[in-house]
Amino acid sequence: EKGGFPHFMLKEIHQQPHAIADTFAGRLAAGTLQQELGIGTDEARAIRRIDMIACGTSWHSALIGRRLFEEFAGIPASAEIASEYRYRPRPTEEGTYALAITQSGETADTIAALRATREAGARTGAICNVVGSTVAREADGVLYTRAGPEISVASTKAFTTQVTALLLMALTLGRLRGRLDPARAGQLSEALVKAPEKIAGLLGRMAAPLQALAREKANSNDFLYLGRGYGYPLALEGALKLKEISYIHAEGYPSGELKHGPIALISKGLPVVAIAPNDSLRDKVLSNLEEVKARDGTVIAVGTEGDADLASLADHAVWIPPVEPAIVPLYASLPLQLFAYFMAVERGCDVDQPRNLAKSVTVE
Ligand code: M6R
Repeated sequence: EKGGFPHFMLKEIHQQPHAIADTFAGRLAAGTLQQELGIGTDEARAIRRIDMIACGTSWHSALIGRRLFEEFAGIPASAEIASEYRYRPRPTEEGTYALAITQSGETADTIAALRATREAGARTGAICNVVGSTVAREADGVLYTRAGPEISVASTKAFTTQVTALLLMALTLGRLRGRLDPARAGQLSEALVKAPEKIAGLLGRMAAPLQALAREKANSNDFLYLGRGYGYPLALEGALKLKEISYIHAEGYPSGELKHGPIALISKGLPVVAIAPNDSLRDKVLSNLEEVKARDGTVIAVGTEGDADLASLADHAVWIPPVEPAIVPLYASLPLQLFAYFMAVERGCDVDQPRNLAKSVTVE
């Protein structure tokens, strides 16, 4: 059942090209997504804010979604941790669309937060993987991620398919609201359609170097992950994967925060994983990395092919092809997943069933 892979996690990492393709299949044509979500055109135009509700990895998707909705649809959006949101006094605002993001559809806090927003009068939607789950049944509309069953406790394909679904939603809302011209929407859709094949190639190329890197770093006990823009949620996700399955202390930070505290952690050899693709914030990440190098930290970079400056700064680098910044998360999450996986294997951890964790957190 593991399809020849030693662990479900590795199998699921490799299923991502297909899973992403399944997520967008048949949904790029105008109108299809609206139908699934049950949002009429007038309603879509009347949305004034989107509150995304999620936990864990799904919350990291929400952080990416926030940027996608604001960039492409011009809708103010927030990414809310469900366990906080459900207990926060909130003024209700007309035109709020609450969007639960959850692989299982059974996360207790996400369910409760979704119910609270419904009671407060918000229109609700869900991005969910499990058909017929509680969240899928209770939301006004559902966009299924179609990732197939995710067995490994550490979420991988659920994440990239959620990001794909969010991108589809942002493009749809952007078009409906006249915010995104058809040519630009077409470019982004095309970049998305090309992703599965390119990602499959990348997975093949990256595995061996990342395994070698994990061998080298297997005894490191602290990691810092840095990124900006779309890279910030990826830093959080990379750090979460590492701590969850290899039990290594890892912190994810927006790299602009380095000077506000975490730089004090940097000493000789501290591994700093930097997500630094070639986007509008890349120069700023690079200047943060210079500060890391000045303190003898070890830089492990995820960057764009051909970036000579980054290559000379980094002690180790993994390269992704040049792609639209909004699509980068689909590529840059792969080395982070694979690195965490190989680290856990090197350290002899139970990859698919990490200690203390359950696949779905059905109690508060
Ligand atoms: O099923 P959900 O997406 O609601 O689950 C949310 C989190 O419990 C989940 O993403 C968790 O953080 C994963 N184990 C991360 O790999």
